[in-house]
Amino acid sequence: MTQDEMKQKVAEAALSYVVEDSIVGVGTGSTANMFIDALATMKDRIKGAVASSEATAERLAGHGIPVLDLNEALTRVDSLSVYIDGADEFDAGKNLIKGGGGALTREKIVAAASDSFVCIVDETKRVDALGLFPLPIEVIPMAEELVASVAEKLGGEPKLREGFTTDNGNIILDVYGLTITDARGLEDHLNSVPGVVTNGIFSHQGADVVLMGTPDGVETIR
Ligand code: 5RP
Repeated sequence: MTQDEMKQKVAEAALSYVVEDSIVGVGTGSTANMFIDALATMKDRIKGAVASSEATAERLAGHGIPVLDLNEALTRVDSLSVYIDGADEFDAGKNLIKGGGGALTREKIVAAASDSFVCIVDETKRVDALGLFPLPIEVIPMAEELVASVAEKLGGEPKLREGFTTDNGNIILDVYGLTITDARGLEDHLNSVPGVVTNGIFSHQGADVVLMGTPDGVETIR
């Protein structure tokens, strides 16, 4: 089975976590795109979706799925029922690295506004320790050098994601070479640096359930 076939399987499996008649949070990336296409088959059974990126909003709208602004959604309900999104890496504690697509900040916001986070990945995303995938940090442009020097002091090698601007108008630094043993501590430390909007460690907003695609089928990790 190819990686895309495993992604397709978990995207379809995630439909069973969609709460009928509710507002659903939807992530960004190729796996999330497959989920959006699957969600279209039950679009009449949900109130709508909150998107974690402009690209996701466009794809949802293309299927005729009502797209709600998060603020508007939260005037109608206390929280979104579920957030469904992919990840670049996950560990045994269901901590994640996200942001390969650059949507990490909005993804973290929508995840925080949701009752649960169902993460849809293929088995290549499982790691013993986070950090093989370069850690994305969304940074306000004037703080690039400041944040890069903090990342270097941590033993990382920060690289500007060339030619990329986030949906929020900021830059991304991808930090190579980190071995992350304390995901929560590093998430907090990096987020305390002025100019960091957020970083791609999802420990506070880690997954509640990981649906992992394997050649033998979908494994559910709770
Ligand atoms: C985007 C993300 C994605 O979830 C992550 O990059 C995984 O993408 P894909 O499903 O294409 O492998 O965090 O910011």
